[in-house]
Amino acid sequence: MSEEIKVLINEKELDERLTEIANQINKDFASKEIILVGVLKGAVTFMVDLAKKLEPTIQFEFMDVSSYGNETISSGKITINKDLEVDIEGKNVILVEDIIDTGRTLSYLLDYLRSKNPANLKLCALLDKPSRRVVDVEVDYIGFTIPDTFIVGYGLDYKQNYRNIPYVGEVKL
Ligand code: IMP
Ligand code: MG
Repeated sequence: MSEEIKVLINEKELDERLTEIANQINKDFASKEIILVGVLKGAVTFMVDLAKKLEPTIQFEFMDVSSYGNETISSGKITINKDLEVDIEGKNVILVEDIIDTGRTLSYLLDYLRSKNPANLKLCALLDKPSRRVVDVEVDYIGFTIPDTFIVGYGLDYKQNYRNIPYVGEVKL
């Protein structure tokens, strides 16, 4: 792989921000139980690191969705490849995502999860690119707002590579 990657958010900055988000969630959900629903595959790193800082009783669920379009612009059409394995009715659910770009994926997923009647549904995303938004989504917990550049690392990929890079990097395509 020959792409040049520049550090945008380093490991220390990630760790400190995750602690702040976790403190907020710990306050909001004190002595409650939470199901974290991670969106595969990009949210995995963020979800695992965040979960280690959470005090409520936590369960992990994952969903995998595809949106059809070209590689860099997601279309409105979304299919579920992997669904929830538990009933979330009456539960506290936090949807965990790596990045909000157009907002289409999350808007679809939030509607889908809401239709299952959870007691509480929040959205937590590590990164937000507001300049690219097509569909409005309300985010409850956000890590960093970033400019419109292509990001890899800390779970995010370029052609499925670079998910293991421990920092958030900007790739020069
Ligand atoms: P959208 O909000 O429906 O447009 O799509 C968000 C999804 O697109 C994310 O979950 C990522 O998988 C992917 N994505 C958007 N921007 C980036 C990026 O800069 N790097 C890597 N993946 C991205
Ligand atoms: Mg994703």
